Amino acid sequence: MESTELNESCSTDILKKPNVESLNTMMTEIKNAEVNIHDLLEAIYNKYGYDFRQYSEAHVKRRIMNRMAMSGINNISQLQIKVLNDVTFASILLQDLSINVTEMFRDPGFYKSVRENVIPVLKTYPFLKIWHAGCSTGEEAYSMAIILKEEGLADRTTIYATDFNQQVLNKAKEGIFSNRLMKEYTANYQLSGGKESFSDYYTSDDNNVIMNQSLKNKIVWANHNLVTDSVFAEVNLILCRNVLIYFDRKLQNKVQLLFHNSLISGGILCLGTKESLRFTDLHEEYSVVDEKHRIFKKKY
Ligand SMILES: C[S@@+](CC[C@H](N)C(=O)[O-])C[C@H]1O[C@@H](n2cnc3c(N)ncnc32)[C@H](O)[C@@H]1O
Repeated sequence: MESTELNESCSTDILKKPNVESLNTMMTEIKNAEVNIHDLLEAIYNKYGYDFRQYSEAHVKRRIMNRMAMSGINNISQLQIKVLNDVTFASILLQDLSINVTEMFRDPGFYKSVRENVIPVLKTYPFLKIWHAGCSTGEEAYSMAIILKEEGLADRTTIYATDFNQQVLNKAKEGIFSNRLMKEYTANYQLSGGKESFSDYYTSDDNNVIMNQSLKNKIVWANHNLVTDSVFAEVNLILCRNVLIYFDRKLQNKVQLLFHNSLISGGILCLGTKESLRFTDLHEEYSVVDEKHRIFKKKY
């Protein structure tokens, strides 16, 4: 931290004479908060089966503090009592901890690379299974269904789109999105190498669009928790973007093992620019297809 920043963030009293007692109190409070968050996550796991114990500490802390501020709750013990006794509140906290931001053809360059580098591999198989892990409200899975249609692969493919949050899965299944987003999604689609008119893939009313039934028919939506559930299918391609960033290193390793066990030999793993394989135990088990967009091919 620059000294000017330090000066701005500290009172002049502290600068003159460090108050060891108040520093000790602060350290104790931080330590207590950590212990209490650990207890809270343990209690949530025991009561509801949702396991956030190995999510990144910074992410969990930020979301919990936000919820406490919004609900007028002063300490984590109070929050724990409310979570354990109020199912509606527990469900709100689950929504807080599962960040659902997504979009159609998110990071168009990534989908361009999928078209150029992944689709030719997929074309060599007579039947295909694709797994979108952590699919949120489904925009990524619909994007993939569109690409498959344009590349002549739709008839031989099933997309499995999974998330541990039932609320987002319900929305994904409906395939209804706000009209206001279509300008941005159309631009993404075009940048990703789209071959038709994006508006061919939905019908719209005054406020919303609804994705075509032919796309919906290609996607099986399922509740699957990457932390607590196991392999459910052997697949040719896995896409899991913007999910593992919320997990600590150990949990990322565990989920990478699940992906490795779910892929056929020569199968493709797409992680996107925010994730990495480099620090996992499985780094050597893949060859690189696209370094920038973190697309890998299972070696054996
Ligand atoms: C930021 S969204 C990413 C959505 C999409 N993959 C994308 O990149 O646009 C993260 C999603 O991961 C899901 N998620 C978080 N932890 C999960 C877990 N343990 N198992 C399955 N899904 C999880 C969240 O519910 C959320 O929908």
